[in-house]
Amino acid sequence: MSRTIIVAGIPGVGKTTVLQELENVAREKNIPLKIVNFGNVMNELFKKRGKTVHRDHMRRQDLELQAKVQEQAAREIGKTGGKSALVVDTHMFVRTKDGIWPGTPRRVLEELDPGLIILIEADPEDIARRRNADRTRERDSKTVDEARSDLEWSRYMASANAVLAGAPIQIVLNPDGHQRRAAEDLLALIRKRTLQ
Ligand code: AP5
Repeated sequence: MSRTIIVAGIPGVGKTTVLQELENVAREKNIPLKIVNFGNVMNELFKKRGKTVHRDHMRRQDLELQAKVQEQAAREIGKTGGKSALVVDTHMFVRTKDGIWPGTPRRVLEELDPGLIILIEADPEDIARRRNADRTRERDSKTVDEARSDLEWSRYMASANAVLAGAPIQIVLNPDGHQRRAAEDLLALIRKRTLQ
């Protein structure tokens, strides 16, 4: 059984917040866990290519270049060894200037070989509010309808991923003020799957 778990969520759903909480919960319970942020790995690889780009500008780069860096990032993450569960923090899709583009196309999935795909979701109203309140990031979509549409796209892409990887999908909710509970739910799912 693969010990790699893909955790995906649309921008502003609170993925980073919940995964930070997951790290705390796992530490408190003495459960070894490694979390890798796919966007960070890509960002470093852009830098190594002499192209320093803000994380919110990577999706605006030429698609061929993004695809090369995406695949390279997947190869690097795929080599991450160790006995603990590996959580890959990423996106089911990215809104590029060429259109909606898969975050984990076939070649990326083959490198990651996930045993489980977890989607973090929240109420579209909450997501829109979080996106508008977060001044530290550049969000492309900010309305409730856009959040709803992003949630749908995320599920479409997740089902394609599940078919290709033969991995099940779970959904974890991140309601306002309940990031700790979301992290505990996430940890329970990860434990259940990686202990099998
Ligand atoms: P990434 O780093 O994943 O960026 P992101 O999705 O924009 O992540 P954020 O951290 O901004 O959003 P979040 O949903 O985690 O929200 P947050 O916790 O901050 O990816 C960056 C880039 O990398 C992508 O744009 C793409 O270009 C590239 N990339 C990544 N994977 C790729 C792939 N596979 N292929 C190609 N490119 C890829 O929370 C938002 C706000 O809400 C905060 O203010 C927070 O305090 C608040 N909040 C969160 N939870 C709660 C709660 N429960 N109650 C109240 N407030 C809450």
